[in-house]
Amino acid sequence: MYISEIILRDFRNYSSVSLALQNGVNIFCGANAQGKTNLVEAIYYTCVGRSPRTPRDKELIRWDGESAYLSASAQKACGKVMVEGYLTRTEKRISINGLPISRMGELMGAINAVFFSPDELKIIKESPSDRRRFMDIDISQLSKAYFYDLNRYNKTLAQRNRLLKTGGNITDQLSVWDLQLADTGSRIIKARAAFIDKLKVYAKNAHAELTDGAESLDVDYECIPSYDRADIREAYLAELSRTRTKDLFNGYTNIGVHKDDIALGIGGADIRAYGSQGQQRTATLALKLAELEIFAGETGEYPILILDDVLSELDTARQRKLIERIKNVQTLITCTHTDIAFDSAAVFTVKAGSISREQPGSE
Ligand SMILES: Nc1ncnc2c1ncn2[C@@H]1O[C@H](COP(=O)(O)OP(=O)(O)OP(=O)(O)O)[C@@H](O)[C@H]1O
Ligand SMILES: [Mg+2]
Repeated sequence: MYISEIILRDFRNYSSVSLALQNGVNIFCGANAQGKTNLVEAIYYTCVGRSPRTPRDKELIRWDGESAYLSASAQKACGKVMVEGYLTRTEKRISINGLPISRMGELMGAINAVFFSPDELKIIKESPSDRRRFMDIDISQLSKAYFYDLNRYNKTLAQRNRLLKTGGNITDQLSVWDLQLADTGSRIIKARAAFIDKLKVYAKNAHAELTDGAESLDVDYECIPSYDRADIREAYLAELSRTRTKDLFNGYTNIGVHKDDIALGIGGADIRAYGSQGQQRTATLALKLAELEIFAGETGEYPILILDDVLSELDTARQRKLIERIKNVQTLITCTHTDIAFDSAAVFTVKAGSISREQPGSE
């Protein structure tokens, strides 16, 4: 799939922009603070319904504007899809092909994108919640049912935690929440395990290619209870009952999919803790390339790849390998210098919230 057109009104530092993109590589070049990340943020927003930078939508509205509008039109194997977003300081509305959606889950899979920025190193370096977010966004794009399960799980978890804090005789009520957590939690575990099974193969492959076989990346799903038990739901319930006394003492739920993690190792060493900067960056890139392959395998077409400020961070060998890999992927690249050679890339200049396309050969 590829995005053919973008329209922004009062989004971040853009007052009004309409842009035709090409299939293949699109490069957005400009000095710092001109609006490059703002542009790809808008594009990603039309794919997953949230910004990769902030959970607060109102930050996306231009400071002196009342509301923001954004739209992306994509060409997919199944036809054309247009996603529109309309944000005010109090509400957000999204429509697909002109029809407003009533639940965010309906947006999932309309336009798929993989986003890579220096911030994404968080997936490796920071807390388990960053790794859960990584897999949750991907699996949600591939499965609306997963997205709804996650929402259901989080609501049930919040209710159970509230109940744990009240104290008193709550055994019967807790058992009701336990059943619900085990139902949705075990479905989430199955989906995550299936995702990581694919991720580990593709990521190992990509990583071996990026390091010329010098290092081997191991990716594993860490969850409690262990998902290789025959009946996950039963195991889940047993774990909840085993930790109930502790839960009552702490006033929150100690086990469950809200504690899951992804283990990442090179040669037996945990790169979350011990990886060098370069190793962590290469592993992140391998995960991003693996995401592309998972999407292609599941949906039959590559998603859009967004590379915000990351290409110049890679050495030339890795750049070349990346470029080789993205031949069939619409790629949106932001950078401050166009020192990366691409055949037939569309090059745009971004300056103070306006975007113009450079004519080929005009440097
Ligand atoms: N809601 C908003 N309204 C108006 N301007 C905004 C808003 N949010 C951010 N900006 C401005 O947008 C500008 C450009 O931001 P952006 O992050 O896109 O820059 P960039 O081109 O990616 O720069 P860099 O190369 O440093 O990453 C910033 O100067 C910021 O102050
Ligand atoms: Mg930027």
